[in-house]
Amino acid sequence: MLFTPKDFGTGIFELDGISKKTVEEHLKLYNGYVNKSNEVMEKLPKVDLSTANQVFSDARALKVELSFAVGGMQNHEIYFSHLKKNGGEPQGELRKQIEKDFGSVEQYLKDLKASGLSARGWAWTVWFPAVGKLVNWVGDSQNTYLSWDLKPLLALDVYEHAYLLDHGVNRGAYIDAFLKNLDWDRIGDSYSKARK
Ligand SMILES: [Fe+2]
Repeated sequence: MLFTPKDFGTGIFELDGISKKTVEEHLKLYNGYVNKSNEVMEKLPKVDLSTANQVFSDARALKVELSFAVGGMQNHEIYFSHLKKNGGEPQGELRKQIEKDFGSVEQYLKDLKASGLSARGWAWTVWFPAVGKLVNWVGDSQNTYLSWDLKPLLALDVYEHAYLLDHGVNRGAYIDAFLKNLDWDRIGDSYSKARK
């Protein structure tokens, strides 16, 4: 097995506004991405390369879905890693950079919420080295709109499975809950690593 599901601790089952049941079901989807990442990686070396074709071929199917499976696994690993009840607010160098790039923490969170409402899959806060800024980025799927040099710090899952049980189709209410359950120490660590 190349990939094994990560343990995110018990804190992710004690959030405000995101129920234990939602997290339990969501983890099942995460485990599915881990399993499929392993399955595709195992099948890739055995694929018949002589039949490679852009309309349909086993090579195309495996290579396209590898990006989907691994993207799904890694997006969820960021998401579950930084969920924590009463996570506080951005601090230190991360806070300074947020204030520089967005004007204030309040404006940054407003932008992040709007990004989550604009996406069909994910919104990420990324460190964008090419321009030296924090940017809230969107993706419509596990593997769309990514850029090679982005360093993701925060991942907001806006697929309906993340909130339907708790908030119906009121995604805004879910995003408000998500923002109250973020471990900013952890996100600050990710920011420090991204800047090295
Ligand atoms: Fe998800």
